[in-house]
Amino acid sequence: MSAYFDAASTEPLHPAARAELLAALDGAWADPARLYGAARAARMQLDRARARVAGVLGVRPDEVAFTSSGTQAVHLAVLGGAAARRRAGRHLVVSAVEHSSVLHAAELHERDGGEVTAVGVDVHGRVDPAAFAAALRPDTALACLQSANHEVGTVQPVAEVAEACRAAGVPLLVDAAQSAGRADVPAGWSFLAASAHKWGGPPGVGVLVVRKGVRWRSPLPKDERGGRRVPGFENVPGAVAAAAALEAHRAEAADDGPRLAALVDRIRTEVPRLVPDVQVVGDPVRRLPHLVTFSCLYVAGEALLAELDRLGFAVSSGSSCTADTLRPSHVLEAMGVITHGNVRVSLPRGTGAADVERFLEVLPDAVARLRRSAGVTAP
Ligand SMILES: Cc1ncc(COP(=O)(O)O)c(C=O)c1O
Repeated sequence: MSAYFDAASTEPLHPAARAELLAALDGAWADPARLYGAARAARMQLDRARARVAGVLGVRPDEVAFTSSGTQAVHLAVLGGAAARRRAGRHLVVSAVEHSSVLHAAELHERDGGEVTAVGVDVHGRVDPAAFAAALRPDTALACLQSANHEVGTVQPVAEVAEACRAAGVPLLVDAAQSAGRADVPAGWSFLAASAHKWGGPPGVGVLVVRKGVRWRSPLPKDERGGRRVPGFENVPGAVAAAAALEAHRAEAADDGPRLAALVDRIRTEVPRLVPDVQVVGDPVRRLPHLVTFSCLYVAGEALLAELDRLGFAVSSGSSCTADTLRPSHVLEAMGVITHGNVRVSLPRGTGAADVERFLEVLPDAVARLRRSAGVTAP
């Protein structure tokens, strides 16, 4: 039986979400903008989903909009937040380890005549709040900081950065895709982006929150379904399932979070003990409970992932070398750590200790085999 250890890419659908998704496909399929009974039912379900998500995130329902992905939420927040502040200036501040959705939106802003400052991180991938504050300028339109890093799990100092942004009068976007549903996001931000499939909701549902009183202007063409932040026909069943999963995941996180954190601690201590020439990366303390990343010297990351897949473990690499680009991970580069032989283990809800033990059993041999076949002999 294979073990799925790639929750940071996507969490398996939560049973609570499946049940509500199926019910909503049957009961909330009509156009929520229409006036007949079935439409009103869909509208009610959508409003209720928004209120449930708002409840978990600690915001007002009218501040919440459902998007078609976390990526779309980020794009709308970055481009819409910057557009609304054009008079203040066209400067953006981002951390160097943001998700590609933030960096690509910032690139677009730059191509459009804007300016972007990327704030570096320490060896654990954590932003220094003072360095972030120093990058804010009178013409800064928007600042962006993730709540936690998607490749190495490091939790960022959102509260301190939010305070610096408030003092400078700059709105802050928090990309909470990796932490929403696991932990509360510190207050003080203006925009928040999240993604339902990361907390056991269905794929293709994101969340954009714009705090009351924060200016935002859509970077997209006007939509005939007026008055909303996200154009197009709403995915009501998706929103309902996303809300159900968020409530369930957040409620379970109190028990499951510490349990997963203990399993991750075991991986963090055992892997360097069992495998020579390994670097565990990411902040050892201020980190997501369920995620650990390590790099094995003298091993190609893709080969190691393929070998672990063969042995029954679905893990991924922080490095995007395995995806459709051949560039090493910008996160690991910014941290100044090894960028190859990288393995990210991220445990989904309910992962059992036995699977983790089995992983620790097979990993040393897998790495040794690959090193041998690459002609690397133990020192
Ligand atoms: C930190 C972060 N932001 C944004 C996203 C994008 O979310 P989605 O996959 O829903 O587009 C991801 C997904 O990997 C992420 O990890």
